[in-house]
Amino acid sequence: MIVRTPDGAVGLDASGAGEPVLLLHGFPLDRTLWAPQLADPAPGFRYLAPDLPGFGESDRVAGPGMDRWADWVVSLLDTLGIARATIGGLSMGGYLAMACWRRHPHRVRGLVLADTRAGADSDEGRAKRREMQALLRTEGIEAVVERMRPGMTGRATRRLRPAAIDALDAMMRRAHPDAVHDALQALMDRPDSTATIASVTVPTLILCGDQDILTPLPESRAMQAAIAGSVLGVVPEAGHASNFEVPGVFNRLLSEFLGANIRADQS
Ligand code: MLT
Repeated sequence: MIVRTPDGAVGLDASGAGEPVLLLHGFPLDRTLWAPQLADPAPGFRYLAPDLPGFGESDRVAGPGMDRWADWVVSLLDTLGIARATIGGLSMGGYLAMACWRRHPHRVRGLVLADTRAGADSDEGRAKRREMQALLRTEGIEAVVERMRPGMTGRATRRLRPAAIDALDAMMRRAHPDAVHDALQALMDRPDSTATIASVTVPTLILCGDQDILTPLPESRAMQAAIAGSVLGVVPEAGHASNFEVPGVFNRLLSEFLGANIRADQS
């Protein structure tokens, strides 16, 4: 569906009924990343998966940046009449979830940080983002897909799940170049969230594929050490797109966490 917010159109899929759980996709993907979760929502929860600005069916917003996008998330929640939601994100979506906590903690009921990290880009990382922006300009989206594909999934998926690889390739291929450019800018400009996550006081689930090479497991362990009371779940035989590669385990860990920690009768 398309939702009209003060920031423009937002492409959104939703399923289930109950406490809201907003799921934010990674780079350079779209809301269909969360299709395996929307097919199997935890009982008592409503999953909502928007296209981030410029991706899928969502309008681009001026001045891309994680904090600007966190305000965009809140404008979406306002439009949907949601006071507080559990905010979950994979990789770039996780950076955005941390920005939501930094800027709008009173809107965050819980956090799910999947295949992500708290730290900002290194100088070398920023240089690679600029290089990718240039590659996008000169060679187009296919060159970005080629760059991203090797890190997107784990070796088990590359060996055993060709359909998942094809679906992720197709998702990347249909990303609008402006959105990819904006997201690269937001990624390279994002602040370090180490202090942000140390201030988290809501229930937090950290998930990571054990074959993730982009945001490897030690990053998740560091986040778990920094966030009091947080829970770490490892998704076996999954890489960076762990929710898409091994949805059965991902869904079970998410559902158990939500059921045990985020209840309608808690404030
Ligand atoms: C993502 O999956 O969102 C990206 O790999 C994040 C990043 O490059 O830092």
